[in-house]
Formats: sequence, C-alpha cells, structure tokens
Amino acid sequence: MVPVVYASFTLDEEPVIAIALDEKPKGNPRALRRVRNILERPEVALVIDEYHEDWTALAWVLVRGAASLIEPGDVGHPEALAALRQKYPQYARMRLEQRPAIVIRHLSTTSWRGAEQDDNQPSPRLGREELAALVRGRRSVRAFETRSVPRVIVEEAIAAAGWAPSPHGRQPWRFVVVESQERRDALADAMAETWRTQLRLDGQDETIVEARLQKSRDRLQRAPVLIVPCLFLEGLDAYPDADRQHAEKTMAIQSLGAAVQNLLLSLYAAGVDGGWMCAPLFCPEVVQAALGLEPTLDPHAVIAVGFAATDPVCRPRLPLDELIVDWQ
Ligand SMILES: Cc1cc2nc3c(=O)[nH]c(=O)nc-3n(C[C@H](O)[C@H](O)[C@H](O)COP(=O)(O)O)c2cc1C
Repeated sequence: MVPVVYASFTLDEEPVIAIALDEKPKGNPRALRRVRNILERPEVALVIDEYHEDWTALAWVLVRGAASLIEPGDVGHPEALAALRQKYPQYARMRLEQRPAIVIRHLSTTSWRGAEQDDNQPSPRLGREELAALVRGRRSVRAFETRSVPRVIVEEAIAAAGWAPSPHGRQPWRFVVVESQERRDALADAMAETWRTQLRLDGQDETIVEARLQKSRDRLQRAPVLIVPCLFLEGLDAYPDADRQHAEKTMAIQSLGAAVQNLLLSLYAAGVDGGWMCAPLFCPEVVQAALGLEPTLDPHAVIAVGFAATDPVCRPRLPLDELIVDWQ
C-alpha cells in the first residue's frame, strides 16, 4: 500500500490515471518496490478517501485497474505529465520528461457517500467552517517581517489566480514576481517619485508627503516578495464600436480582481499574508520602465507578500440586509 498523488486524463479515448515517479528517490525508478510489484502483477486498487468531521459528508471512491509503466517517448507520456502538472504545480519544476510514470487503465469504480443525503440539497464541497476561516480570516497586511516566502507558495498562489473566472476563459492577466532587493528598491523609488509629485499637486504639507512616502516605501522594501498583476489584453476580442470595446476591457479588469482574490486566498491558506496596493494604476508607465516590462503588460497593482509583522486590523463588514438591496 503506497500513498500517492494522481491525476486523470484520457488515453486512447479511455479515462486513465497517472502517477508520477518523481525525482526522489534518486536512481532507477524501476527498482522501486511499487514498480516491481506492478510489473509482476498489474492489478491495482486506488482508494480516494474523503474525510470530514461532518460524517454526512464522508465519501470514498475505489478504483480498480491495470497498472503499467509508461516510458518517455510512449504515446500518452506527455499527456500524463501535463495532467499531473495541471493538478500539482510542484511538478512544473521537476524534470519528469526522462522518467517513466505509472498509468492505470481499464478502470472500474465503486464509490460510497455518507448519510442519506437529501437529493434536493446540494452536497457541500468544502466544510462551511473551513470556508469561513479562509474568506473571513484573510486581511490586508501592511507591515511585513523580512523573512522570505517559500517559492512554491508563490507559485501555488499564482496558479490559483489562473483558476479565476475570466472573459471567454482567456485569462487576460499576467503576473510579475519581484523578489530581488535591488528590483524592489527600484520599483519603490520609481513609484515614490510619481506619488510625491501627485501629493504636492494636492497641496499636501511637505512633512506629511514625506511620512506617507516613507510608509509606502517601507512596505515595498520590507515585504520579501512583490507580485505585480498586469492586465494583458492581447487575447481579447476586438470590436468596431467603443462601447463593446469598453465592456470587454471592463470584463478583463473585473476578472483581474477575481484572480487577485484567488491569489490572496491561496497565500492566506498557506499561512502567508498579502497586501493589495493600487499605486501602479496611477503610474503604469513608471512601473513598466522600472521593471523592464513589455508595453502589452499593464500593471494594475502591487501585492506585497510576506509574513505580517503585527496583527492587521479587521474592518467591520456590512450586515447582510445592507448587502442585499432587493430579493425579488
Ligand atoms: C482594488 C483595491 C486597491 C487597494 N489598494 C490599497 C492600497 O493602495 N493601499 C492599502 O493599504 N490597501 C489597499 N487595498 C486594501 C483595502 O484597503 C482593504 O481590502 C480593505 O480596507 C478591507 O480590509 P481587508 O482586506 O483586511 O479585509 C486595496 C483593495 C482593493 C480591492
């Protein structure tokens, strides 16, 4: 019995399951006990068990099938890797191309779900408490410790952003990760210069201007990672009339917000904090120049990422009867 991660895909028009033989342990994957077992006796059973404290939500699926090794160069090998990488971003950086993978074919399944669920009621996909902890717990953090954030957490957050709804499913956004101190300083300095000009234009007192600039600079320079979400309109539809073109762009901006929310929730779930800063909206060219970005990348925000240095404040939320203005 071996715990595995798995992904499903279609091979020869048949649903199959792929399991990677990843980089660890080093050496010949064919020497692994599980591989030797499979080669000797291909009948396998995969149990996918879903446990919840709420026993009405318990479930399992038992998949039986025939396992074999799929070698690099075999039909289906690239598809197996693609399916695994789609599900587990961690595999994106592993060199799996030269390694065989396990494929289970000829699947038959048995499954079970807890309690006599009322067919008219939806079945929860995530515990209510877990969801509330996630969506209510996330805070905008504005003061960070300097300790670094594991790269995989940043990658997973950006992968989560990729799952946001978007117009035509075209994902009209890209992300720039700014991690080196030098680049973060360059970005902070460039944006501070624009902001200084703007605050002076507003007639702000010089000491207040400097204090606000210092605060913003601190945030950008202390947070160990900055993520710059950019609008990327290249793949969107072009219309002959300005109204529809405007609506198309609005949809893209709306979905950028959805993507950023996915990103923030993913960070928060992983124990990392984020703070949304709108500054690049006011000086997109300055940010493009400071980071050397293509003109097709339109920076819309900076998300400061790191570990909160102090407990963030929680702003109260509107009651439900104010949020729902009508229910017809
Ligand atoms: C589009 C957008 C832009 C924001 N820009 C800033 C910003 O420039 N600086 C800042 O401190 N917070 C910014 N925020 C964060 C909000 O102030 C914050 O979400 C709000 O006060 C609610 O607090 P919470 O996120 O902790 O729940 C922004 C939020 C959004 C959605």
